[in-house]
Amino acid sequence: MSDNLTLPAQQGPADTTTPETLLEVEGLTKHFPIYGGFPIKRKVGAVQAVDGVDLTVGVGESVGLVGESGCGKSTTGRLITRLMEPTAGRITYAGQDITHASRKQLAPVRSEIQMIFQDPYSSLNPRQTVGSIIKAPMEVNGIEPAGGREKKVRELLELVGLNPEHYNRFPHEFSGGQRQRIGVARALALEPKLIVADEPVSALDVSIQAQVVNLLQEVQKELGIAFLFIAHDLAVVRHFSQRVAVMYLGKVVEVGDRDSIYNHPRHPYTHALLSAVPEIDLDGEGEARERIRLTGDVPSPISPPSGCRFRTRCWKAQDKCASEEPPLVKLSGSREGHLTACHFPEEPTLQGRAQDVVMDPALKALEGDGAGKD
Ligand SMILES: Nc1ncnc2c1ncn2[C@@H]1O[C@H](COP(=O)(O)OP(=O)(O)OP(=O)(O)O)[C@@H](O)[C@H]1O
Ligand code: SF4
Ligand SMILES: [Mg+2]
Repeated sequence: MSDNLTLPAQQGPADTTTPETLLEVEGLTKHFPIYGGFPIKRKVGAVQAVDGVDLTVGVGESVGLVGESGCGKSTTGRLITRLMEPTAGRITYAGQDITHASRKQLAPVRSEIQMIFQDPYSSLNPRQTVGSIIKAPMEVNGIEPAGGREKKVRELLELVGLNPEHYNRFPHEFSGGQRQRIGVARALALEPKLIVADEPVSALDVSIQAQVVNLLQEVQKELGIAFLFIAHDLAVVRHFSQRVAVMYLGKVVEVGDRDSIYNHPRHPYTHALLSAVPEIDLDGEGEARERIRLTGDVPSPISPPSGCRFRTRCWKAQDKCASEEPPLVKLSGSREGHLTACHFPEEPTLQGRAQDVVMDPALKALEGDGAGKD
């Protein structure tokens, strides 16, 4: 290792230094109403897509938001970027309450919060050239950079690793990875302070994913842009995020700095997600992490389980889990800023757990293990 890699001395432990807050989300809620009945349609229920999410993103900080399909990640991202109106809660950006801000009130903030979408095929207009696509946000916001918009677009193309000469080409002339680079260039056109990247690499070939994640990481570090990076597994955000929030069925169940989440998780669901992350034991000396197989589908967000929403799939569930919703709090033994919503959390170390494979009790019975209770 070169001496050049030595980090400058910092006051206090590096992991616990918190940057100034850029985005603060409190009790964010989105319920999609369901209508039924004949002949008069009435509201008969609601999809509780996002239900009381608290989250912060600091200036220049990268935060990962992780959870299974349907847990409300995209809805959270769309609420934050104000593409959707929240049912309840508060969104504060740079000290300003933007929860219900009108288009006009939002105008100055709009350019500072950008979104990168999952599908680089449907998110780019096939009839527009790359130049027009990247230029559009500048036109909409009436921004005229020094040297003109075309010059800026060419600079952006170069920044994201594309040939500036391809300015007049159409999206279909690019590969998936290149298209996502175009999406990144478009998001950067207005020099944003926060980018919400909604599964930006999950539609890409595995071999291309790392390249795009690296590009985003460079952008985050060199331009000091804060990121909310949405992903459905913990592997993708591992190297990208300084902090990670784990979501389950519309709620954040655990949040903390990277070391806390990957090495000292307390919530059973985080353990289950981590056990799904493949680990390669290169020297053959390490202990293989136990595999937790989560069985059963995620319950419907129309009628989520009472108390702890994870209880129908949790191997540690007890009566209290059905009657009392666990609050998202710092547990004893957890580091500052590491919050967990669980009545019966795991010990703060992976090694502390039993070596037995932990499985869904129903699956255990099915496999005839019978060993049953512990
Ligand atoms: N416009 C809508 N109307 C009704 N229900 C919706 C709407 N958008 C999302 N939902 C529902 O809200 C829940 C959360 O959806 P969301 O897309 O936010 O999840 P997600 O975590 O992004 O999932 P994925 O990993 O599949 O992208 C899902 O049950 C979904 O069906
Ligand atoms: S509160 Fe109970 S059901 Fe929920 S994660 Fe903790 S132990 Fe499992
Ligand atoms: Mg989504």
